[in-house]
Amino acid sequence: MKKQVKTAAVLFLLACVSMTSCNTSKKENNNNMIEKVSFGKLPDGQETELYTLKNASGMEVKISNFGGTVVSWTAPNNKGVYEDIILGCDSVSGYLKGVPYFGALIGRYGNRIANGKFTLEGKEYSLAQNNGVNALHGGLKGFDKVLWTATPIEGEEPGLKLTYTARDGEEGYPGNLSVEVVYTLQKDNSLKIDYKATTDKTTVVNLTNHTYFNLNGNLDSDILEHEVTLNADKFLPVDKTLIPTGELKPVVGNVFDFLKSKKISAGINDTTDTQIKAGGGYDHCWVLTDSTKTLKSAATVYEPKSGRVLEVLTTEPAIQFYTGNFLDGTIKGKNGIIYKHRSGLCLETQHYPDSPNQSAFPSTVLKPNETYQTTTVYKFSVK
Ligand code: GLA
Repeated sequence: MKKQVKTAAVLFLLACVSMTSCNTSKKENNNNMIEKVSFGKLPDGQETELYTLKNASGMEVKISNFGGTVVSWTAPNNKGVYEDIILGCDSVSGYLKGVPYFGALIGRYGNRIANGKFTLEGKEYSLAQNNGVNALHGGLKGFDKVLWTATPIEGEEPGLKLTYTARDGEEGYPGNLSVEVVYTLQKDNSLKIDYKATTDKTTVVNLTNHTYFNLNGNLDSDILEHEVTLNADKFLPVDKTLIPTGELKPVVGNVFDFLKSKKISAGINDTTDTQIKAGGGYDHCWVLTDSTKTLKSAATVYEPKSGRVLEVLTTEPAIQFYTGNFLDGTIKGKNGIIYKHRSGLCLETQHYPDSPNQSAFPSTVLKPNETYQTTTVYKFSVK
């Protein structure tokens, strides 16, 4: 009897050992595999997909071909616990209810164009005025609402290539624009986004990503105690409709100074500042001190409770820092969490808003035979 128990115990142990090693090797094998699942159907019946990129250290980024949307993203805190640090929805149906660009690719022109009009090579173009009198984020059906063609890129640094061709006249913009965006999850816990576009007619392009970060790991909290650094010595003051006035204003001496790390709460409610009033908080474009097209550090965000640090590097000349001022507690996101006022912050690397109408701003014009090419990296670490 005793012997039988012993044998059973040995067999059980052997089974456990082999199961564990099976699991481990399965995990190892699967680590670099890009999983694809359904993300739900669009009203016209088309299927959408959700891809999971994983790196060896355990970071996981889920991206949908609908809007090229980054849906979830786990990053470790200073105890090594991975938590989702971005706002989003559980399935495509959530994104169809009119959420404010959560995680999405933005184009053809990110940010605002005054009165939805601009003139290019002597011809005036009219866009949908989808934000008061202005055009915002590519129009009624911008790149955030279209189905991209997705190609997984397997490897130690897995990626997802997304392509989309916006036709000549789509959302009022001239030129057939072929766009390619590649997301790459790198070994060092960074997500690299490479944007490329070509056109067959002169057009304007300003592509970005609209992820809302909350580094706390608790998406039910606000971002006010996040500490932000922006490597920008000037910002663009705006009018009441959030169109830049054309002035490049030094940040020194006002609440727009993030040259040294500062809590968002320190200045966001300073309603004596007319610019804070205009934006309902921070919703402005900062001009990076380093204006070269090299990949340089634009911003750093530190969340003291979790110890998470996010650094944003970009080849772009500017960054829109938006503190989720329009979130008002009416959107239910992933896992039923209600996204309250200022529960996420966006760091949208880009060219200046309204550049097509402001000739003193760096140009956003793209001509046939030219290639639009920019890179932005969002890199996580802990402190
Ligand atoms: C941007 C704008 C904001 C707001 C959000 C979406 O980043 O600058 O004013 O429109 O998108 O709600």
